[in-house]
Amino acid sequence: MNICSRSLCNFTSCTILILFSLSCFSFSSSEALDALDPNGNITIRWDVMIWTPDGYMAVVTMSNFQKYRHIPAPGWTLGWTWAKKEVIWSIFGSQATEQGDCSKFKGNVPHSCKKDPTIVDLLPGAPYNQQIANCCKGGVLGSLSHDPENAVSAFQLSVGLAGTTNKTVRVPKKFTLKAPRPGYTCGPAKVVKPTKFYTKDRRRMTQAMMTWNVTCIYSVKPKVHKMLKG
Ligand SMILES: *[C@@H]1O[C@H](CO)[C@@H](O)[C@H](O)[C@H]1NC(C)=O
Ligand SMILES: *[C@@H]1O[C@H](CO)[C@@H](O)[C@H](O)[C@H]1NC(C)=O
Ligand SMILES: *[C@@H]1O[C@H](CO)[C@@H](O)[C@H](O)[C@H]1NC(C)=O
Repeated sequence: MNICSRSLCNFTSCTILILFSLSCFSFSSSEALDALDPNGNITIRWDVMIWTPDGYMAVVTMSNFQKYRHIPAPGWTLGWTWAKKEVIWSIFGSQATEQGDCSKFKGNVPHSCKKDPTIVDLLPGAPYNQQIANCCKGGVLGSLSHDPENAVSAFQLSVGLAGTTNKTVRVPKKFTLKAPRPGYTCGPAKVVKPTKFYTKDRRRMTQAMMTWNVTCIYSVKPKVHKMLKG
């Protein structure tokens, strides 16, 4: 992309100008949308599995619906801002990078009191008692065409000081996803139909108490495009 810098495109030699304009145009088609995966997205689904005395326990599942774009090491970093004064009592399969200020708690101290927690996956080989299904891949997420088995990542968190019914719970806001660099834009969390889960023998179905989805789309800022037009 650097080859499209102003000094080069203003270069007086005709041949070089044409050569570089061509490469500028070929880049411009990939700017607004991701040319690699124009219809792809990463969906983050929160399934509230049980209500607890002061909040809920949720399983958060991140699914890569992109054919080709994967998340390489050192992996994803997921962030959000709590709507109220929620805290994370405990978390399995991932961890918050900072505990934040939990000084008002005595005895049981939350895993994180940050208003805007930042979550990272655990590494492979994390202790068994901290794992859940699809966790602990160091944040690496496969693409659908190359590594579909690893296109899903999940963790479980217990949230306190939160609503305890589907009427009082507040969905988190301002989701961010780094993979591992910025580039994804996440939409607002939307309450959707509760996810249904089948037992292994598929003879019984249970469902989440409540489910919300967040969709993140890869896009890069159209810097080059503006320069060419302006
Ligand atoms: C995300 O991708 C999936 C799979 O391609 C698709 O079903 C879904 O509609 C997409 N979501 C959005 C918000 O684009
Ligand atoms: C929510 O996300 C899941 C994937 O995690 C997807 O299967 C489902 O279709 C999504 N629901 C809606 C309404 O977007
Ligand atoms: C909340 O729960 C009630 C009763 O179980 C149900 O009828 C309603 O559809 C739920 N609302 C949402 C947004 O899940």
